[in-house]
Amino acid sequence: MSHLPAVVIDNGTGYTKMGFSGNTQPSYVIPTAIATRDGISKKSTNIASKRGIEDLDFFIGDEAIANSKTYGVNYPIRHGQVENWDHMERYWEQSIFKYLRCQPEDHYFLLTEPPLNPPENREQTAEIMFESFNCQGLYIAVQAVLALAASWTSGKSSEKSLTGTVIDSGDGVTHVIPVAEGYVIGTSIKNIPIAGRDLTAFVQQLLREHNETQIPPEDSLEIAKRIKEEYAYVCPDIVKEFQRYDQEGEKYFKSFDAVHSVTQKSYKVDVGYERFLAPEVFFNPEIISSDFLTPLPEVVDNVIQTSPIDTRRGLYKNIVLSGGSTMFKDFGKRLQRDIKRIVDGRVKRSEELSGGHLKAVPLDVNVIAHKKQRYAVWFGGSLMATTEQFYTFSHTKAEYEEYGPSICRHNRVFNSIA
Ligand SMILES: Nc1ncnc2c1ncn2[C@@H]1O[C@H](COP(=O)(O)OP(=O)(O)OP(=O)(O)O)[C@@H](O)[C@H]1O
Ligand SMILES: [Mg+2]
Repeated sequence: MSHLPAVVIDNGTGYTKMGFSGNTQPSYVIPTAIATRDGISKKSTNIASKRGIEDLDFFIGDEAIANSKTYGVNYPIRHGQVENWDHMERYWEQSIFKYLRCQPEDHYFLLTEPPLNPPENREQTAEIMFESFNCQGLYIAVQAVLALAASWTSGKSSEKSLTGTVIDSGDGVTHVIPVAEGYVIGTSIKNIPIAGRDLTAFVQQLLREHNETQIPPEDSLEIAKRIKEEYAYVCPDIVKEFQRYDQEGEKYFKSFDAVHSVTQKSYKVDVGYERFLAPEVFFNPEIISSDFLTPLPEVVDNVIQTSPIDTRRGLYKNIVLSGGSTMFKDFGKRLQRDIKRIVDGRVKRSEELSGGHLKAVPLDVNVIAHKKQRYAVWFGGSLMATTEQFYTFSHTKAEYEEYGPSICRHNRVFNSIA
């Protein structure tokens, strides 16, 4: 049976990635923000029936941000999970009709969820997708599993494996998720309360310290974000990096051209240590945090060490990066080095303890960086949704009508061969 391409939507805390299956890029990447007149969602008993012309008075994405002076801006997703279903529904409504411009009754949908999303949320999603939008079919995929599938294009791993450790770092949260043959090992997942927006805030603070007057306060967050995205990188050793800047400043200090959003005057922003200090926070969290202190490489090692013993080798061998905040230059390289150090140190200690009687088999540690990393979850969804399996595993409108929303509490897991 032939199908129209599936609609693939990855709603993140900060950004929504949406488009059609089979494409290599999402058609739209816009903030997961909605601007409504009241700023407060109306109490609704039956969401589908109340939708009328008056409800079209709202904006999503960049338009929502642009209208923040006259509308109330809301972020329906917190820490990866939907928090406001009324806003979420309206957000999807415009995503489908205004952005993707498709008829949902003609398409299957692939939506994504964070690890450990409660089944009630899936049911809620299904209700909206089938009852309000009449979509043809629905599959809700775990983001980490899609990120593993996306890494198949890296060419670095010969097999299409759905076993690996995913480091997904976006705007709101960083997750480290072990996956064995398509199944998330839920009990070993760890979250790190450091992600893109924390790094942006840190850059903003550093810029303020050495660019006292130039940056207008209303522009400073956006400028900090752009400087972070364009200039920041991971260094091998911060002590040496500071020395480099102090000795050969002209090579490392940058100047960012900015335009005042109100006066349109251009000015320059000096960019210095923040270039390497921003992502260093992942490796030395004490730089910005007083309560979370474990470096990311150690968290990754902990996650794998608490996973079942027969999965560990595969988890070290395929550590996959996903999300905007893994995009810093040399992020993967540093992680690989630091994780390897931890692993080798442990092997060495156990050999010493045995007085030379034990010779451990060396462990392969691979951190996979690849071209589709930025939108890895979306891209993995785009790949999955072109397979026959996707159509067999999806729940259809007819099934929904026969059995009710509870059938969507569970989604069958993809095999390793797509
Ligand atoms: N080249 C880059 N270098 C560093 N950071 C980047 C780069 N490009 C984007 N980012 C950051 O990535 C973050 C957005 O990532 P992503 O779209 O993966 O998050 P999300 O899915 O919305 O959030 P979450 O996964 O936390 O729910 C933003 O903080 C953005 O500044
Ligand atoms: Mg995300």
